[in-house]
Amino acid sequence: MDRTVYLNGAWVAEGDAKVSVFDRGFLFADAIYEVTAIIHGKLVDYPGHLARLKRSLDALGIAMPVAEAELLDLHKEIARRNGIEDGLIYLQVSRGVQDRDFVFPEAMEPTFVMFTQTKKVLDNPKWKTGLSVKTVPEGRWSDRQIKTVQLLYSSLRKTEANRQGYDDVLFVENGHITEASSANFHIVTQEGVLVTRDLSNALLHGITRGSILHLARQADLKVEERAFTPEEAKAASEAFVTSATSFVTPVVKMDGVTIGNGEVGPISRRLLDIYIREQLSAGIPVAD
Ligand code: PDD
Repeated sequence: MDRTVYLNGAWVAEGDAKVSVFDRGFLFADAIYEVTAIIHGKLVDYPGHLARLKRSLDALGIAMPVAEAELLDLHKEIARRNGIEDGLIYLQVSRGVQDRDFVFPEAMEPTFVMFTQTKKVLDNPKWKTGLSVKTVPEGRWSDRQIKTVQLLYSSLRKTEANRQGYDDVLFVENGHITEASSANFHIVTQEGVLVTRDLSNALLHGITRGSILHLARQADLKVEERAFTPEEAKAASEAFVTSATSFVTPVVKMDGVTIGNGEVGPISRRLLDIYIREQLSAGIPVAD
């Protein structure tokens, strides 16, 4: 295969068509795409694909990478350059390249890619035989225990919240908190019990969460792993998030309501200290 690919304004051989590893499409699934068929040299349903492309870009706040007239010209030219009479054109626009961060700035230079694939669209054997299918639970995306890069929703909500003056979001499902955008969430009740969501496919099984629970139990703290509501969290004496990069970070306000006395609580502080101390002693040295 030696197709010509369109990449950010240039026609390049497919082997040279490379996108940065820092592209948000790669790191956060922060990208949209369209697929348009070509039959006997004709673009199929092009206006519909263009309209949806614009809707998708609008919804994510990504700029149209080229003018509409130019986009149609690019479709014609990529088909011509690759000799596609029957096949498809795939196009993808990502928000662009940035150091990894859930929060993105307003203006970014989008990454724009187009390529073709030869396919005998009109020669589909299944049009004669039909398909055999099976049902599966709708789960797009409900397997949050898997640490995938499907982070677009989290990134959008965190960016929006940041612009409104919040540091982060807490996701609520069926009236219960699952976790924060990129950290697990925990509360300490007025009775001093550490309550954290039990593990399931509703949340990521945080490594820091596991270590903190272990240290909390060692320190004779009572721990309950169960679902809890935003109301229970607002009535807690302390709350905190845990993650690989934030360790134990207190949460002092939620939906404008002060948690506890609004200051970093003693249990959060203690767990952070114990965790840092333990890792400074037990962490694996990077130098031999
Ligand atoms: N995020 N929940 C989600 C959705 C996360 O993305 C993370 C971590 C956690 C905490 O897991 P751990 O303790 O293993 O880091 C919980 C990382 C830090 C990130 O995406 O930057």
